[in-house]
Amino acid sequence: MRKTLIAGNWKMNLDLEEGMDLIQSLVNQITPDDLSKCDVLVCPQMPLIAPLSDIAGSIKLGAQDCGAANAGAFTGDTSPSLLASLGCDYVIVGHSERRVGRLEDSGLIRSKTAAAHASGLTAIVCVGESENERDEGKAELVVASQLAASIPPGSNPDNLVVAYEPVWAIGTGKTASEAEVQEMHETIRDQLVDLLGDASKIRILYGGSVKADNAVALLALKDVDGALVGGAALKPDSFLPIIRAAG
Ligand code: 13P
Repeated sequence: MRKTLIAGNWKMNLDLEEGMDLIQSLVNQITPDDLSKCDVLVCPQMPLIAPLSDIAGSIKLGAQDCGAANAGAFTGDTSPSLLASLGCDYVIVGHSERRVGRLEDSGLIRSKTAAAHASGLTAIVCVGESENERDEGKAELVVASQLAASIPPGSNPDNLVVAYEPVWAIGTGKTASEAEVQEMHETIRDQLVDLLGDASKIRILYGGSVKADNAVALLALKDVDGALVGGAALKPDSFLPIIRAAG
């Protein structure tokens, strides 16, 4: 049994007041019944993690990236152990906005994932193909090579979540079809078996234009264990129905 994870990636949005208002509103409205059906996670910008952790209650906190080492001369990087000490349980690594926008390759993402694991964080490792790669029939190949190169030894269901986010579905309003999502998630799970031996308990999230009106169908798919939500996670009215679509 894999407990559904509904994760909000706030990206570079929301200031201190807006972030505090949003988390307070979620804390007020998320019920024990909701939390019996899914884990709820929000990933704000780094400086919001400490103030949010004071009021987040049962909502888990995650960062959107971390350094590939725990300490040292790495100007601008954030130590995974500092994140853990501030109340983070999760960290997103290898989001396409970093793979494509910041030229991060899978080797770096693997180092970040290993550093996150060493600090007790669960890494949400993102993979996903571009529109061209899908059109050329290479989607599975691209995702498989990203996955194999991004996951370090020692990954297990407690420290690894995989997020399949087709790049062409992020922020576009286009969602992969239910068949495309299930097919890719099944392929990812098969590959995780090859890489790690057992993948029956590893959660695989779908991300890319998840909204209230498609969440029920996506979350009902056999190998979809949750959602990584961008735009719709920025308001309680759009995030809560996705949480309620779980279970
Ligand atoms: P959207 O839900 O805005 O498409 O963003 C998805 C995403 O990138 C989550 O990490």
